[in-house]
Amino acid sequence: MISVKNICCIGAGYVGGPTMAVIAHKCPDIKVTIVDLNAERIAAWNDEDVNNIPIYEPGLAEIVKSARGKNLFFSTEVEKAIDEAEMIFISVNTPTKTYGVGKGMAADLKYIELCARQIATVAKSNKIVVEKSTLPVRTAEAIKNILDNTGNGARFQILSNPEFLAEGTAIDDLINPDRVLIGGDTDEEGQKAIEALVNVYSNWVPKEKILTTNVWSSELSKLTANAFLAQRVSSINAMSELCEKTGADVNEVARAIGMDSRIGSKFLKSSVGFGGSCFQKDILNLVYIAKSYGLKEVADYWEQVVIMNDHQKKRFATNIVKTLYNTVSGKKIAFLGWAFKKDTNDTRESAAIYVADDLLNEQANIAVYDPKVEESIIYRDINYLGTRAAEENKQGIEVLNDPYNACKDAHAIAVLTEWDEFKTYDWQKIYNNMKKPAFVFDGRNILDADKLKNIGFIFQQIGK
Ligand code: NAD
Ligand code: UDX
Repeated sequence: MISVKNICCIGAGYVGGPTMAVIAHKCPDIKVTIVDLNAERIAAWNDEDVNNIPIYEPGLAEIVKSARGKNLFFSTEVEKAIDEAEMIFISVNTPTKTYGVGKGMAADLKYIELCARQIATVAKSNKIVVEKSTLPVRTAEAIKNILDNTGNGARFQILSNPEFLAEGTAIDDLINPDRVLIGGDTDEEGQKAIEALVNVYSNWVPKEKILTTNVWSSELSKLTANAFLAQRVSSINAMSELCEKTGADVNEVARAIGMDSRIGSKFLKSSVGFGGSCFQKDILNLVYIAKSYGLKEVADYWEQVVIMNDHQKKRFATNIVKTLYNTVSGKKIAFLGWAFKKDTNDTRESAAIYVADDLLNEQANIAVYDPKVEESIIYRDINYLGTRAAEENKQGIEVLNDPYNACKDAHAIAVLTEWDEFKTYDWQKIYNNMKKPAFVFDGRNILDADKLKNIGFIFQQIGK
């Protein structure tokens, strides 16, 4: 039985950081080193004040504090950590390609390939290489080719161990996972490698929740899981538009269908659209894979999930303009929330970015408040779209660290993230300081409609 004592993880991001922190916390006998090329990020992970670690996740700071310096280490010395480890997790980013063949659809695997080449060059002893990043099906084959043909004669086993954590609940998801999925080769060596990783997770995950499969099933299951989840959001969002036309209430519809045990009640919350670094990227990747096998109908079917999501974001912005008498030019619109969901400081693909872009095109003045997102990130996000010069974005968007100031003199408020604190505000006070008539557009269906209407707001929720 292989018993792993030294783990290295390449990539100290939203997955590598929390995942390895939990492994270190639950397995005090295993030394875990997380490495990254980004020296600033590593410095932040090593910050003496654990509240300054680069990722905000409830419970993460405490777990890092409990293990850091004991059996959890953050470092930029990638080669040293690879050399010392028996098991190497690859947890680097796999964004959508922005160039060449597959541009805008396929996953960009250049960071993965770099890792494989680096492992091959450095490794002097046998290693188990674990794909933690989300990858197209059959990527393990490419990694194995690189490792076997550029290495120093060391032997490698490749496992697929996709991560299912959701941001905002990452620590709970890692400590109590629905399942852990491990894919590996079906031969004897492959099975031994699987067993080694099963043993790591068995320190805290019940055996019956650890599922082992072949590598290709594991790789494809991750893309499939995200596609199914995103599809539910697009399905309920599609119904939200029909609800608005017919007088049905999307929350009531969601409740009614969710009580059918075959459908289930989770992931049926209509919204201004799903965001985050995974759903869109992984579906586009799935669409690309299907197309590359000539499966046009399969590709079209899944692409519709993303098309519907884009439509939902656009129609939210259009609705604001229409309701404000067809012009928002020179009007202040307050954004409550910029993160793609509550309890995270991650803004990747957040609906707020696209709604802001559409409203800036209409010459609105936007005032943003988010409890966890830094000002520089908000400007980075909007500048990244490239719609207008950075200077213009700076003029069009103001970032405030007080929600009451953000809403002061605004013609309308758009709720873009479901932060719990928004529900606790003194809405009467907010109303008093706004331009009249005062509008609230609740893109997350979190506010109390009756209360706000009584105060005098003109109130709109998605799907009502
Ligand atoms: P991230 O961008 O937050 O982190 C990736 C890190 O890898 C970065 O810090 C980057 O500097 C580092 N990196 C890239 N190339 C490197 C190299 N050659 N050597 C050392 N460091 C390198 O990304 P993330 O959100 O953690 O996602 C990582 C993977 O996990 C992706 O494939 C993603 O699809 C998948 N995933 C993400 C989530 C999520 O909720 N964010 C959930 C499940 C799976
Ligand atoms: C997702 C998957 O849930 C997770 O398993 C995978 O590992 C990574 O991708 P994440 O993107 O972090 O996780 O968050 P998730 O909770 O799935 O939310 C994604 C987006 O969908 C958010 O913008 C959220 O607000 C939105 N959403 C979710 C809805 O609009 N309605 C819902 O009912 C659920």
